[in-house]
Amino acid sequence: MAEKARPIIRALLIDISGTLMIGSMPTHRAVQALAELRRARFPFRFCSNTSKESTSVLQKKMLDAGFDVQIGESQELWTSLKAVRNLIRTRGRISSCPESAKDECISAGLYDPNVPYDAVIVGLAPTFFNYDHLNSVFRILVGEHDSQKRCNEDPKPSIPLIALHKARFIESSGRGLALGPGPFVAALENATGKEAEVLGKPSKAFFQTVIESLDCEVDGPDECIAVIGDDIQTDLGGGAMDLRLWRILVKTGKYRAGDESKDGVHPPDEVCDSFADFVDSLLSAHDAGPSKE
Ligand SMILES: *[C@@H]1O[C@H](CO)[C@@H](O)[C@H](O)[C@H]1NC(C)=O
Ligand SMILES: *[C@@H]1O[C@H](CO)[C@@H](O)[C@H](O)[C@H]1NC(C)=O
Repeated sequence: MAEKARPIIRALLIDISGTLMIGSMPTHRAVQALAELRRARFPFRFCSNTSKESTSVLQKKMLDAGFDVQIGESQELWTSLKAVRNLIRTRGRISSCPESAKDECISAGLYDPNVPYDAVIVGLAPTFFNYDHLNSVFRILVGEHDSQKRCNEDPKPSIPLIALHKARFIESSGRGLALGPGPFVAALENATGKEAEVLGKPSKAFFQTVIESLDCEVDGPDECIAVIGDDIQTDLGGGAMDLRLWRILVKTGKYRAGDESKDGVHPPDEVCDSFADFVDSLLSAHDAGPSKE
């Protein structure tokens, strides 16, 4: 299979787990490669689909592994939680989600009858998955909540159901399998007839949010934004294809021989041995100067 000619890459979205690091260890030469990317002022963002760890926990994990990452409020690292928080900020009055003590955890606290809720967001929040809470959000979704009865807009705005992810079950630390948010989202979908919009990677909304944070211009068909990861579906599927990102599969992490040509998956645009190998070739092209004019 002949590889397609690589377009001019304006920015890079980088998967963390399996691509930059495996467990708590960096992949081969990844720390140096990232440092070089930064030295070259090449625009990039880290993307993680975790909804368990907050951005600051992940930042610390990367720092501990030796990576030069910005800490604190930074646009560099994106998780689905952060994408949701950003969505709440930009869409305005989704007041069902106060920022809680845990810097990013989104919790549906009190259903204030005076607050006109305009979205329901479901993440993994075990203590909220009970009849009362689920019933309250069901009522919000179908426009039966007290706050909505006073709404005089006609027709009443449709309330979206947004899910961080739909994992059916998860591995809970050391205690075996546990229910994920998926079945609860499914219950709300079934009761309301609505389909949840999934906001985690690889949804289009997730990648769009991250790309907006880059503020980078892509001009014409020979330029693009690239995404690199070890999982052809979670990292490079869905929104990565819809948005026509240049998709690079690395042979580290969960990669297994033949993943790039498996049935039912859209083959990646490039396959590389590692993140560092890709960065080497990216920067040698970049140093040669973007061949515009
Ligand atoms: C995140 O993606 C990894 C693959 O990169 C997958 O194994 C995991 O289940 C995903 N987690 C969630 C919460 O979707
Ligand atoms: C809800 O679930 C029932 C039982 O599985 C199914 O028959 C029905 O079609 C579902 N309705 C919707 C709207 O998903």
